Amino acid sequence: MNVRLSLLLCFPLFMMTFVSFATERETISPPRKLTAEQARVAAKNYQRYCALCHGKEREGHANDHAPSLRSKSLMESGVPHAIVRPMSYGREGTAMGGYLDEVGGPMTLAETWDLTYWLWEQAGYDRLQFSTKPVLGDSVAGGKLYQQHCTSCHGVNGEGVSAPALGNQSALAHNTDEFIRHAIENGRQDTPMLPFKDKLSPAQINNLTAFLRSKASGWTMNKPVLRAMPKPEQYIVNPQGDDPNFSLQDGMYVSSNDLNDALNGKKRMVLLDTRVPSVWQTAHIEGAIPFPYYADLDETVAGIPKDVQIVAYCSCPRAAADHTIKKLRRKGYTRTAVLWEGVFGWMNLGYPVVRRDVKNSIH
Ligand code: HEC
Ligand code: HEC
Repeated sequence: MNVRLSLLLCFPLFMMTFVSFATERETISPPRKLTAEQARVAAKNYQRYCALCHGKEREGHANDHAPSLRSKSLMESGVPHAIVRPMSYGREGTAMGGYLDEVGGPMTLAETWDLTYWLWEQAGYDRLQFSTKPVLGDSVAGGKLYQQHCTSCHGVNGEGVSAPALGNQSALAHNTDEFIRHAIENGRQDTPMLPFKDKLSPAQINNLTAFLRSKASGWTMNKPVLRAMPKPEQYIVNPQGDDPNFSLQDGMYVSSNDLNDALNGKKRMVLLDTRVPSVWQTAHIEGAIPFPYYADLDETVAGIPKDVQIVAYCSCPRAAADHTIKKLRRKGYTRTAVLWEGVFGWMNLGYPVVRRDVKNSIH
């Protein structure tokens, strides 16, 4: 075919694409369809691992401020990394831990992808084609808008108060500019995040997006060297020590201060880290054993005597630990308590944790 003819043929096609982009976003083909078996496993994994915080119906906000995993604007964004990355690696510094086996979580790579596709199937929205190009805007003007409209929920420094942490490096590393802008424009349906498209101009929304992007710093995910799981004979901290004799607030809670005193005083205890084990791998209170909220108690509780003081903690700061301790109490483990401030509170107060070793970066 000669060049002129091929140009002639291409031109209308080019114009059509241009016009359709100018009016509406293109939808992209639905993700791979799950087999009935894959969908069954994904649904089970969701209830087991995610419902505690994201809600039984994926509605979000069951605990902490875990976002909705079914809102139209999130699911139509069509960016798989916005789902599979936080699910796999977690968001450092938030209650969202990583669930991929590579970082010490319970799911295989195939399972994390299946759960991602399952979430899309359940939500049932068409996926929109998003550009990965940066959204250009005035980040200084955006910063002012942010202080005016966003801090009440997302925090003065984007740290998250009753909403996700927008300044979170792992989130900014995985979310594209268009994804962020789409969330600001359209809000997140059936959540406190309202659409801003009627309140702010497109240019202002671009400025906000540019501002949030300006908070991104180089973030790398480090390949962890996984620690060995503790053995039953290591479950009790200070096996020769005295009982800590905690006085519990509401019959349930022990303060970081009292727990730290008890550890320094070499008291006899069992510490349970009730988060997904990948975050136990990242950092935990010395002596704590991984005891995830979704564990089958009949398997995990073996080896823990009933007469020892048990203290459970999580980062939520209490949701997963409360959940676990209630289950243990129903099984007759009455000498049980939950760390009031959670492990982030503990760290913020300056108490020590054991951190993991890292090898080279994987990104
Ligand atoms: C009334 C509280 C509130 C205000 C005000 C608010 N947000 Fe949100 N925002 C939320 C909540 C809650 C979510 C999570 C919603 C969900 O998906 O469940 C959210 C989600 C988001 C997300 C999506 C994050 C992600 O990773 O999916 C972005 C981006 C965002 N907000 C930006 C903004 C910006 C920018 C402003 C100010 C213009 C703002 N928000 C104002 C409560 C708020
Ligand atoms: C202990 C509570 C908890 C559990 C359990 C949990 N999450 Fe989350 N998740 C969160 C929180 C809190 C956030 C928001 C973090 C932030 O501030 O960015 C989040 C964020 C996310 C996001 C990002 C959504 C968005 O709008 O940006 C995805 C996707 C997600 N979680 C998926 C999952 C899946 C899938 C599971 C189960 C395998 C799961 N989570 C288990 C607390 C939890």
